[in-house]
Amino acid sequence: MLKIQDLSKSFYNSYLGENVLFKHINLEVKQGEFIIIIGSNGTGKSTLLNIISGLVKETSGNIFLEGNDLTKMPEYKRTENISRVFQNSSLGTCPTMTVRENLSLALNKGKLINLKNCLRYKTKELEELLNGVSLDLKKLLDVEVKYLSGGQRQALSLIMAGLSTPKLLLLDEHTAALDPKTSKEIMELTQKIVKEKNITTIMITHNLKDALQYGTRLIMLHKGEVILDLNQAEKKKLTIENILKKFEYAV
Ligand SMILES: Nc1ncnc2c1ncn2[C@@H]1O[C@H](COP(=O)(O)OP(=O)(O)O)[C@@H](O)[C@H]1O
Ligand SMILES: [Mg+2]
Repeated sequence: MLKIQDLSKSFYNSYLGENVLFKHINLEVKQGEFIIIIGSNGTGKSTLLNIISGLVKETSGNIFLEGNDLTKMPEYKRTENISRVFQNSSLGTCPTMTVRENLSLALNKGKLINLKNCLRYKTKELEELLNGVSLDLKKLLDVEVKYLSGGQRQALSLIMAGLSTPKLLLLDEHTAALDPKTSKEIMELTQKIVKEKNITTIMITHNLKDALQYGTRLIMLHKGEVILDLNQAEKKKLTIENILKKFEYAV
């Protein structure tokens, strides 16, 4: 459903010259796959997601989403099919609006609608969206998002990202800034949304435990190349020590 074809990316810097991130990367992602990407800092993991979502322009190559070439599409057009959650929990929500308003906006994503209509949802309907979500979000419907904790904001960002059932969900270290308990809660919520809605997902993480526990495929990027690509069965046999060895090799 997602096909990355011959993708190359270099950044240019007047001091350092050319910084080649990828050279002719090819990757095929099947519908419903939950891909975990790992790799050392600076290997270009975030840039890859930025290129897919249109925030950064590729140097060359094509990216097809269900046969449509994303590289020919502006970023705003890609958001119809692609949702993102970032490491910074402030990026996925509107801080000066309440949880209710944020959820209502997400429910109306892509529709031309007036404010009154946008906010037509009943408390019960919105609470249902938060069923099973810990972190007390249900009690906070009328609280401005800027007063929420990082974990609560990430939970809200995830729910909002999943509401439109995007074709592709991109998660860039979305639990990295959270404490271990909250990070686990957000990972469980991620798993629930991805599974229930069968959303094709690409998640970047530095948490090797999560990389082993979650996802259906594990990819390691290093110096612009895919140096490891394991399916679920292969991934199940892997240990953290195995991955660390790969990292040592990669450094
Ligand atoms: N907009 C940009 N302009 C110039 N260089 C950039 C830009 N974005 C990222 N880079 C460089 O590209 C490299 C990869 O960055 P990034 O994709 O953020 O890596 P990762 O997410 O794997 O840590 C880094 O060397 C970074 O400095
Ligand atoms: Mg990054």
